[in-house]
Amino acid sequence: MSEIVSVEAPANIAFIKYWGARDLERAIPLNPSLSMTLRACATRTSAQVLGRGMGDEMWLVGDGGLQPAGGSFRDRALAHVARLRAWAGRDEGVRIATHNSFPASAGMASSASGFAALTLAVVAAFGRDPEPAELSRLARSSGSGSAARSVLGGYVEWPAEGSGAGAEGAAVQVAPASHWDLRDVIVLVQRRPKGVSSLQGHLRAPTSPHFATRQRLLPERLDRARAAIRERSLAQLGPVLEQEAIELHLIAMSSVPPIFYWAPSTLRVLERVRGLRDDGVPAFATMDAGANVHVICEPGHEPAVIDALGSAPGIDGLMRDRVGEGPRRIHEHLLGAEPGGTGV
Ligand code: PMV
Repeated sequence: MSEIVSVEAPANIAFIKYWGARDLERAIPLNPSLSMTLRACATRTSAQVLGRGMGDEMWLVGDGGLQPAGGSFRDRALAHVARLRAWAGRDEGVRIATHNSFPASAGMASSASGFAALTLAVVAAFGRDPEPAELSRLARSSGSGSAARSVLGGYVEWPAEGSGAGAEGAAVQVAPASHWDLRDVIVLVQRRPKGVSSLQGHLRAPTSPHFATRQRLLPERLDRARAAIRERSLAQLGPVLEQEAIELHLIAMSSVPPIFYWAPSTLRVLERVRGLRDDGVPAFATMDAGANVHVICEPGHEPAVIDALGSAPGIDGLMRDRVGEGPRRIHEHLLGAEPGGTGV
C-alpha cells in the first residue's frame, strides 16, 4: 500500500467569466477568463494508490465519517482518475476521500477546487510532479475549466486557445496573492445545489442572441481588468466585476432554453451593495453560476460590508474569504492507513 497524499486546493471567483465552450469535454473555452484564487473556500482530498487489479474507491467526508460518493459527481471524478492514471502510465486502483469547506454545486466553484484537488492528489500519489502549466491542463481535462485556474494562487488568467498567451491551454498567474489583499464576503442566498449545471450553461451560452456581443466586448474588458489588478485599483476593477456578473446571467437567462440562477434575495443583495457604494464604501458584487453573491472589497471596508450584508433579509449566512496563495500539501489525511479505514 503506498503512502497517502493529501492536498488542499482553493476555489476561485471569476472576475472575467468563462462562459461557453468550444469543446465541453476537454473544456476548451470560447473566451479567456481571469479569477482570484480564494483561501477559505477549499477542497481537501487524500489519495492512495492501491494494489494492481483493485478498483478505485471514492469517499466523501461527512458528519458521520466516510460515505461512498454517488451520482454524477462520482462518475465525473472516477472518469478523471482514469484519465490521470493513463497520463501517469500506471494501472493501479486509487482510493480517494474528499471534503469541501463550503456548499458544493451552489455556484461557488466547488468543481474548480474539487477537480484541482483531485488532480493534484492523484498525480502526487502516482509519484509525479509536473510543472504548473501541465497541472493546469490536467485539471482542465476534468471538464471543469475553472479548475485550470485553481492550481495557481493569486490572480490567474486562463487564455483562450490559440491566443498565443501562456502555455497553450494552461492558466498563468497574473500577480501573486501578496500583490493585492482583496477580500471576498460571500453572501449565501442558497446553499442547495443549483438546478442547472455550469456544463449545461456552457453548452447553451452560444444560443443567446447576446453571446456574440459579449465576445466582441471581452478583449477590452480583460485588458481593463488586468490593468486594474496591476495598479491595485478597485475603482477600475469594480465596474468590470459587476458588468461581467450581470452579463453572465443575462446570457444564461436569454439562452435557449433559459437558465435562471438568481433567487429573489440575489437582487436584494445587489441593491444593498449599490447602497453601500452610495454611502462611500467601495464594494462590488460578482456572481458565478448560482444565486450566491461575492462582494469584493479592500480590507479596511470589510467590516462595513459584513455589517450591511449580514442583516440583509432572505440570506442564509456569510462566508469571509480573501485572495489566497493556491494549493498546498497538508498532513491531515482524510483516509485511514488501512483500506476502508476512516482516518481523521
Ligand atoms: O469550470 P466550470 O465548467 O464549472 O465553469 C465555471 C463557470 C463560471 O464559474 C460561471 C465562470 C468561471 O469562469 O469560473
